[in-house]
Formats: sequence, structure tokens, C-alpha cells
Amino acid sequence: RVDLSFTVEEAQRTVRVPPGVTVFDAASWNGIAIDSTCGGHGTCHKCKVRIDGPSPITRHDVKTFSREQLDAGWRLACLVNATSDLAIEVPPLTTRPKAATVGVGRQVILRPAVQKRYVELAEPTLEDQRTDLTRLLDAIDDLEPVPDLHVLRRLPTVLRQADFKVTAVVVDEALVDVEPGDTTRAAYAIAVDLGTTTVVATLLDVTTGTPVAVASMLNRQQPFGGDVITRISATMLDPAALDRLRDAAAQTLATLADQVCTEGGVDPAQVYEVALAGNATMTALALGIDPEPLGVAPFVMSTPQPPDLLASELGLRLHPQARVTLFPALGAYVGGDIVAGMLATGMDRDKRTRLFIDVGTNCEIVVSDGDRIVSTAAPAGPAFEGGAIRCGMRAADGAIEVVKLGGADDPVELGVIGDVEPRGLCGSGLVDAVAELVRVGLLDASGRYVADDVAKEIAPSLADRLAYVGQERVFVLHRPAPDAEPEDCVVLSQRDVRELQFAKAAISTGWTLLLEELGLEHRDVQQVLLAGSFGSYLSAASAVRIGLVPKLPVLRIVAAGNVAGEGAKMALLSVRERAGARALLEEVTYVELSDRADFNDRFVDQLSF
Ligand code: FES
Repeated sequence: RVDLSFTVEEAQRTVRVPPGVTVFDAASWNGIAIDSTCGGHGTCHKCKVRIDGPSPITRHDVKTFSREQLDAGWRLACLVNATSDLAIEVPPLTTRPKAATVGVGRQVILRPAVQKRYVELAEPTLEDQRTDLTRLLDAIDDLEPVPDLHVLRRLPTVLRQADFKVTAVVVDEALVDVEPGDTTRAAYAIAVDLGTTTVVATLLDVTTGTPVAVASMLNRQQPFGGDVITRISATMLDPAALDRLRDAAAQTLATLADQVCTEGGVDPAQVYEVALAGNATMTALALGIDPEPLGVAPFVMSTPQPPDLLASELGLRLHPQARVTLFPALGAYVGGDIVAGMLATGMDRDKRTRLFIDVGTNCEIVVSDGDRIVSTAAPAGPAFEGGAIRCGMRAADGAIEVVKLGGADDPVELGVIGDVEPRGLCGSGLVDAVAELVRVGLLDASGRYVADDVAKEIAPSLADRLAYVGQERVFVLHRPAPDAEPEDCVVLSQRDVRELQFAKAAISTGWTLLLEELGLEHRDVQQVLLAGSFGSYLSAASAVRIGLVPKLPVLRIVAAGNVAGEGAKMALLSVRERAGARALLEEVTYVELSDRADFNDRFVDQLSF
């Protein structure tokens, strides 16, 4: 990596980027605005900066600057490849590009793939017989788009009906439409987090970077199974299931697209692009690609980077030429959603040693030491989603999500979603309950409930909560009535504790081995990012107490939120960020844990609290 130190209006900022990146891109990736109207294509000659350090002079520099300026280090930023550390002075902007804050504090300079240009063209005459297309392309020559037949069919009529005052619509170098009049203010795109459980769509105004409407729903593939493995198995058992799963994905996407357009008051025909971030299985199923090789060893993807496609091919009723762009995947179990999350959290841009964890049935883990990035997947099982837990449930109304034990007034304090009577325990409640039981001493370090007499001694106000359901030891979290039998109560059983131990051991073994891979120790981690909805609700203190994350001050543990959706937004708002996501394929090393000889020993070491 190389360090680029930017000075903008006396403020100084250093960013670390892979060698070879242009100074313009490095600035843009890091939200530092440099003048430009061509977006870094070397044609506008506006991206002037003064560079201290090796930077060869190009012929464009010679055209743009005087000899004295060249000697003083003035260059066009988009033509300087940073091959060593550089100091760069950025002059004040003459045209201020708009930027948006996305992801975890990331500033993105708006350079969407969707570009609209309003043009007033001269009408043809006998002296000027340029074709309709040439006339239009001449007026938008900085974009150099390629037209498709759909546009040519409309062009003669639209031009004449609109008195040659039209808006050209370009998506990622393709001229996709020509619209009568000035429609430059209406350019929209939809960012989708295609989750196994929940799918979230955000309608974005790409001219300003602002979200217009957000909608979410359960993935309609749910009836085929709650996790990726059961959905893959469904396709293996029934040859018709793949088409049905693909249909279910299409229906989910179409429903959400309709919903956000209605809610945002936006004509679906003005939505020109969709970015989809999903795990490898969800992506394969949405595209109708056989997922079987993802589900069986050696876990092979059909491709790490699925090709872009038309939104209509996914059943979306948007602009007829609207495109779908997909995130690349690093492995069968570190998919496009994680690549999007890495983009949103700037895992490849930050100098700190950071650990990214997306907790779920399949837990994805990424570690960066500011230079190298490694990733892996750990099979955590369904415990965090309430599966395989006696009173487990999803995070819905009635789920206990917060547990505090041993308070003076109330020995068992519960936080319940929807403030209703508790019905069960969701993932964050499970982690809290176990962490609290460990803290008060009712669970020993091996994860066993202590004997009754010990419980009475160390936690007298809680000891009567220890009971039996059948042969199994349980802790009663909530009694629906004072005389309710333990089997009718919300309880945490000994087996539930074991399930959580297995899940957290799988995860902590994963990050321990990744840290070792980079020659790091737990205490070297400067920030832990907990991604996904589960990460947002998890108590950092409880996660530390049970060893789900390294033992660090809780302030270093950050809930990063729906980073997959944020990454999808970034890809829509900036073609550079999109390229950055694709570059991660080369930058990140995927580490397979399942074939490591020491995995089982490490796993056993991590079981205790
Ligand atoms: Fe236009 Fe560099 S950004 S020439």
C-alpha cells in the first residue's frame, strides 16, 4: 500500500491505497473532492493538483500546465498513478461535486453510472445532415455512450416531437433512452440487500445521493427453508424447485420495487439501475443458477462475478433497459453481501487493524491489518436466529432481547420487543442471558449450571429460578403466572447454553485463526465491526463477556448496521466505488478453515466462557 497525504484548504488527511491507483481515484474513494467534469477520464483537464513525489509528466499535463507549473509539481490527478508515498495539494474547487455520506461514515463523491444530460440540439438542415444519433452523441461527447436498438427506435420521433430538446439517459456507457424535455432531475436506482431471511430495498435519488423510500419483507423463498443449506437441498431433491425459488426471488424483488416506487412517488420507468448484494446462494437462486456445487464439498461457485443483466430478466418492472449490477463473491460462503459490507465499512481503506463479523447461521469474518485483508466463513448454526433453542424465536414482538440479572429491585429485568408479554428469546437476548448468568456465577466457565446449594450461596435472589424441565436444568426467565410450571415458562435450558457455546466457539475460532494468519493477537484489534441486523442489537458487553468478540474495551466494538445495503447504495452512487468492490476480489485472501488440522483443537479451546 502507499500513503497519500492530501492537503485541502489547509486541512491535511492521509489515506492508504493499493499502489497503482490514480490520485483522483484515491481522493474520490475517500470523499476528497477534486475538480472534474469528466469523472476521471483524462478529458476535462480540470483535476489539477500539486504533487510532491514521483509523478511522470503526461502529454495532457504538457497541454494543461506551463513549464514553471510542471516544475512545481502540477499534474492532472486522474493521470497520476500512485506508486509511492505522495503529498498532494488540492486547490479549492471551482465546481463543487456533490457528495453523500453512506455506509459507516463513508463520504462518496457522486458519480453514478446513471447519467442524464439535457441537450437542445440544432435541427437538421440541408447544410447539416448529421444523423439523429450523431447529432445527439456530438452533444454529449464527454460520455461517449453506445446506443442500443431500443433508443434508435424512439429517437427520430422523440427528437421531432420535443423540438430537439431532449434528455439523454446513459447507464454505464450505454445510451438507454432519450426522453422529451429536461428530465435530468428524475434519476433513480434501487439498492437491494438480498438476505436469506429478509430482503431490503432502498430507492435512491442518484442525483443527490438521498434515499427516497425504504421497504423490507421476508424473502418469499422462506417456505423452502430458513437457511441456504435447506434451500440448496430443496433444489437437489426436486428438479422443479430451482425455478420455483427463482420465481420466489423475482416476486420478492418486484414487490419491494413496486412498494418503494409507490411510497417515494416515483415513476418506475425512471428507475434505471438496481444493485443487488446477496450471498452466493441467494445470488445463484435469483439468477436461476444451479446452487448444488455451493452446498457440497469442495464448495465451488459458478463464477465470482456474475454478469450484469437487465432488470426485466429478474422480473422487475422498471425502465425497460434498467440494468442490474451484482457484487462479486470471494467464496461460496463469503458472498457479495460481505463484499458490499467491506465496501461500506472501508475495510480496504482504513489503516487500523479491524475485525468485521457478520453473525448469522453462516458467520462471515474479515480481518484487515491496514495492509492485507483475509476472510473466512464459520458455520455458527441457527442459535443466533433463535433456531435449535428451546424457547428461541426470531426478533419479533414478544422476543426477549435484553436481559439484566441481579438488580436490587428486580432480580430479572427483561427488555422485550414490542413491550408485550415475553413469548421467547431472540439471538441478542440469548447472548445477554448467557453473559449475565456467567457474570452472576450461575453458569460456570465450562457452561454448566451450578448446583442448587452453590446457586443459593452466590445469587440468593435468583437461585429459585433454577428448575428442571424433564431431566434438563433450566433457568426461568419469565413466568406467565406465579404458579406456572417451568415447561410453560420462557426458560434457558442447559442444551441452549451448549448451542450458544458451539456457535460462539465456531466464530471465535474463525477470527483467532485469521488474526494468526496476519501475525496478530487479540489485543491488536483496534475496531470490531458487527454487521447485519443481529450485530445492531447485540450488547457489546455481553459479546465480550461470552467471547464472541475479542476481549476489548466496549467502545472499540461498533454496530455497523445493514452494511450490505449500504454497499449496494455506494455502488449506485459511484462507479469508482463499484470498481473498488470488484478490486476486492484480488485484494482479499480467502482462508478455508474446514481443512485445517488444528481447527478442532482450537474449537474446543474456545468453548469455555
Ligand atoms: Fe477530468 Fe482528470 S478528471 S481530466
